Amino acid sequence: MRFRTLSDLPDVRGKRVIVREDLNAPMKDGIVRDETRLRAALETLLKLGRLGAKTIVLSHLGRPDGKPDPKLSLRPVGVRLAELLGSDVRFVDDCIGEACVDASHALPDGGFALFENVRFHPEEEANDPLFARELAASGDFYVNDAFGTAHRAHASTAGIAADLPAYAGLLMEAELAALAKLTDHPAAPYVCAIGGSKVADKVGVFENLLAKVDAFVIGGGMANTFLAARGIDVGSSLRDKDLSIATKILHDAQARGIPLHLPVDCVVADAFDADATATTVPLDAVGNRMILDIGPKTAEAYADVLRGAKTIVFNGPMGVYEKPAYQNGTRIVGRAIAEATRAHGAVSVGGGGDAAAAASALGFAGAMTHVSTGGGATLEFLEGIALPGVAALEPA
Ligand code: 3PG
Ligand code: MG
Repeated sequence: MRFRTLSDLPDVRGKRVIVREDLNAPMKDGIVRDETRLRAALETLLKLGRLGAKTIVLSHLGRPDGKPDPKLSLRPVGVRLAELLGSDVRFVDDCIGEACVDASHALPDGGFALFENVRFHPEEEANDPLFARELAASGDFYVNDAFGTAHRAHASTAGIAADLPAYAGLLMEAELAALAKLTDHPAAPYVCAIGGSKVADKVGVFENLLAKVDAFVIGGGMANTFLAARGIDVGSSLRDKDLSIATKILHDAQARGIPLHLPVDCVVADAFDADATATTVPLDAVGNRMILDIGPKTAEAYADVLRGAKTIVFNGPMGVYEKPAYQNGTRIVGRAIAEATRAHGAVSVGGGGDAAAAASALGFAGAMTHVSTGGGATLEFLEGIALPGVAALEPA
């Protein structure tokens, strides 16, 4: 899809530009724990600042369910954002109303304001057109840079575009350009490394990508479900109770001749928290234990497949990557993705669910072509679903 971007904006000096960002960052005790999304927003904000716009930032934080919740105030996010921008960010306690409109006009050219969590109003998630109009009253232009929320048809991500000329921000543009490489004539071989806990959460990704990729390599809890569907005893491992979805995917993959690689060995432990009992076993020796990572033979086999790929999507860790005992599988797979990208010019994109967090925790995010700031948004893109936040943008 083609849409207007920041380079299509007319002169915005002294004009009010509302920018929807996804500043939904993990917080603890009023402190931003992971700044990835704040940093990803900077490019668009700094550019608008340089252009002399009065920039008004909208975002949600968490899921306050349409009611004010002091724990989900964006105020502390604004403090950190100001530090990262190296500029004042005026915080306003609401996102609609006179105080907001007044603050938008009062900003200096090149100045910034952050309005309170849009989800403190139930009309946000309801995509209420009157609420969208009230949001729009604080701007002359609208920029959607919130790729991470593009799968939501909410007032600040979609509805507002009915009231203001809508443009894509630089992050939105970069995310969509990277993801387009996975759908518009991807270079073959195209391999999807997929993990995560449940097959049921990613059935749409399998269905959509089965028509596009040349192979899947599968890890994480979902691999246990596929193994169980093949009749393998996975002991007390986490797995979907219902095996019918996994069985159908296995069948569809076979019918299409798409290899769906599954573990041949694994790292098991007596229980989720019994790291000291972690040990590598072949698949037929799981016993009553829990599978918590793919084994080294599996990781090497997956790495071989990935090193030969020209297009890679990394959609989830291979094991419980947060714990040292179960990092090896994801680390080896990540290394292979990095090598394919650096040495063979593969396009590699990470995102959806835990993929980005795993790639950055294990140090291979920087080596990939692109790591998405979107969780659910990337997942829906990979499922082939149109994103409402993108559909609402002005066609170019
Ligand atoms: C996310 O973190 O997935 C986005 O910010 C969207 O949040 P939501 O899932 O609460 O809509
Ligand atoms: Mg989400």
